[in-house]
Amino acid sequence: MKKLFKLPYWLLLVFSWEKSFRNNPIIGNYWLNRCGLHVARLVVAHLLFRFRLMLLSPLLAKQDRQAFLDNGFILKPNFLPEADFAALKQELKAYNGPISETLEGDTLTQRLFLDRAKAKLLPQCQRFINNIALSKLMRYCSSKNRLPLFYVENLKFHSLDATATDPQQDLHIDTFHPCIKGWFFMDDVDDRNGPHVCIPGSYRLSWRRLRWEYRQSLLASRPVGQDAAARYWDGSFRVGPDDLDFMQCQPPKVFCVPANTLLISNVHGIHRRGDAQGQATRMVIWMQARDNPFNPFFTPCPRLTARAFEFFWRRMMAKREQRLAKNGLLRYTDTGFY
Ligand SMILES: [Fe+2]
Repeated sequence: MKKLFKLPYWLLLVFSWEKSFRNNPIIGNYWLNRCGLHVARLVVAHLLFRFRLMLLSPLLAKQDRQAFLDNGFILKPNFLPEADFAALKQELKAYNGPISETLEGDTLTQRLFLDRAKAKLLPQCQRFINNIALSKLMRYCSSKNRLPLFYVENLKFHSLDATATDPQQDLHIDTFHPCIKGWFFMDDVDDRNGPHVCIPGSYRLSWRRLRWEYRQSLLASRPVGQDAAARYWDGSFRVGPDDLDFMQCQPPKVFCVPANTLLISNVHGIHRRGDAQGQATRMVIWMQARDNPFNPFFTPCPRLTARAFEFFWRRMMAKREQRLAKNGLLRYTDTGFY
């Protein structure tokens, strides 16, 4: 009976960014996926993504748009003037307020959510958030005219507290629809401190990619007990060497880049966090602009929409963090990024 009442809600979520095959019995229904539900969501999301990008094309130069469409990423070295970058880095390294820490495998992730209140206390961060060139890049690449949510993120690799491996270091896709994340690197990045790795062009829907997605959707929606790996249930499919061969992917690109480089990448493409050596660290300003892929329109008021997203996101994350903290998977410190 309870399930019957929830049915309209689950049905509504089919037309949203919901990706979990476990939490939504419609999205996770084996027979519906056998009839092509997952693939249909994928195709519609991609068509609308391209449609919105076309409408937003005045935001960016043709060269940048083409790079994003071809490869699924845009790379901007020397993004800030040198003095501005030095001031921003100084501000972040000197920060000694509260942050959250989570352990994923053996990587400790320290994060600070740069909401409006927090950004007011950090003038260089505020300046970065208001950067016009960044705003145009994110608004175009999101395909939604969306300003992202901002975090400061400091990764500490090979934490002594852990023995498991970092799941972000496996090749994967984040979700079923095109969406973007951004990294503004505060440190030089090379093979020692987990460079971002992605397969150029892998976000595009080739016939082989569609066939692969179809197969993954059937694996993910099998009854409980069969192939129950968590990353399948949550819709972030893992990608093995055989999958890369099958999809005839290009060789991976490893973003070993100097500090003051901006990277915006479509995380529907295949990617991973690169390897690291020893107890290396990597600090970035991390950005995310996920939105409903089935809404054909983009927001006419990016600042207002950003505030609304921040409002809901803060509440959602507070609940999630409470749950993680209760289970000992997250802790707070007020020492800054030590
Ligand atoms: Fe990812």
